[in-house]
Amino acid sequence: MANAVLRSFLPIFSVIFFLTTINVASAKPFSKTVSPSSLGLKKEKLTHLHFFLHDILTGENPTAVQVASAATTNTSSSFFGSVVVIDDLLTAGPDVKSKTVGRAQGMFAFASQSELSLLMTINYVFTEGKFNGSTISILGRNAVFSGVRELPIVGGSGVFRFARGFALLKTHSFDVQLGNAVVEYDVYVLHY
Ligand SMILES: *[C@@H]1O[C@H](CO)[C@@H](O)[C@H](O)[C@H]1NC(C)=O
Ligand SMILES: *[C@@H]1O[C@H](CO)[C@@H](O)[C@H](O)[C@H]1NC(C)=O
Repeated sequence: MANAVLRSFLPIFSVIFFLTTINVASAKPFSKTVSPSSLGLKKEKLTHLHFFLHDILTGENPTAVQVASAATTNTSSSFFGSVVVIDDLLTAGPDVKSKTVGRAQGMFAFASQSELSLLMTINYVFTEGKFNGSTISILGRNAVFSGVRELPIVGGSGVFRFARGFALLKTHSFDVQLGNAVVEYDVYVLHY
């Protein structure tokens, strides 16, 4: 009987314990000024990354899949309203079998009613050398039929903490039948 009563209170005890734990953790001040050196930040540097992205829509192992579209997307010459999620391979050379340097993971939406123009919201995660596990995040407009497109880097992680900069995108090859594309990236990123 007493045990049963105790057991019925157990969830409450665990909630109280949980709240106590939270309270201890939140004893840190909400904000304070710290020196950049406390995070090991020294001199900002500029890194140039050069690689190729493989956007595979059609084939045995597509790395770009349409996940949504509007009722009117299939009547739009610019695919307006279509949303595609990607996990695209990044390689050092234009050949898909050249050295892998990372992946581009995120999504793009066809965001123009009059031309092929994408809203890109994509994280680039690198696997090469000192950049292994570090990411940069790009949010920008990609008018895919323009010669060179410039997209802003809005942040990063790992060695790319505090990242800012831009990426220049140039279509290296495009298979009109399959929709598959290889895109050359020149990335200029400021970081510590
Ligand atoms: C567009 O898609 C809708 C729904 O999937 C379909 O009913 C319609 O026939 C399609 N229109 C064209 C022009 O393909
Ligand atoms: C990158 O890091 C992962 C996990 O830490 C490790 O398994 C992998 O071998 C590393 N790759 C390279 C190319 O250093």
